[in-house]
Amino acid sequence: MFEDMPKLEKIWLTIGIGSLIIFLLITGVLAVSMGLNPPDGMETTIEPELVDTAPPFDNTGVEKIGPNEYEVTMLSFMFGYDPNTITIPKGAKVHFKMTSKDVLHGLHIAGTPLNLMLQPGRVTEYTHTFKEPGEYLFVCHEYCGIGHQVMYGKVIVED
Ligand code: CUA
Repeated sequence: MFEDMPKLEKIWLTIGIGSLIIFLLITGVLAVSMGLNPPDGMETTIEPELVDTAPPFDNTGVEKIGPNEYEVTMLSFMFGYDPNTITIPKGAKVHFKMTSKDVLHGLHIAGTPLNLMLQPGRVTEYTHTFKEPGEYLFVCHEYCGIGHQVMYGKVIVED
């Protein structure tokens, strides 16, 4: 079947298939050698219907758990976060523990590498230290419905 194919077509077919193989190789090598996988840190599961009535999400907020260490227990929902303002001192180590009450939401804190996916029924955990004082806006970055664009809050890092 390839004999009567124009030469140019063969060349483009080779480039096309070659690109596909290179793409799959890059993805495969990165996943295996560098651990580049879908988001993790959400191993703990919780009944989605119970998230706001059972611990720890029945008691959301910021809690001091050490000399300069805080735990933020946060719930996301259509269309907001509870709490939506977090105040912590500069240099504090902050452990985020989050989930969603309804659909898939996200949390990205501007100016930080913090970029989380919040899945109903999964507890997402992440630790971050805020070194610079200031106000950090956070937003939902997973399209979650008609009010997606009003889903935001802020972290206030005090000097
Ligand atoms: Cu929540 Cu978009």
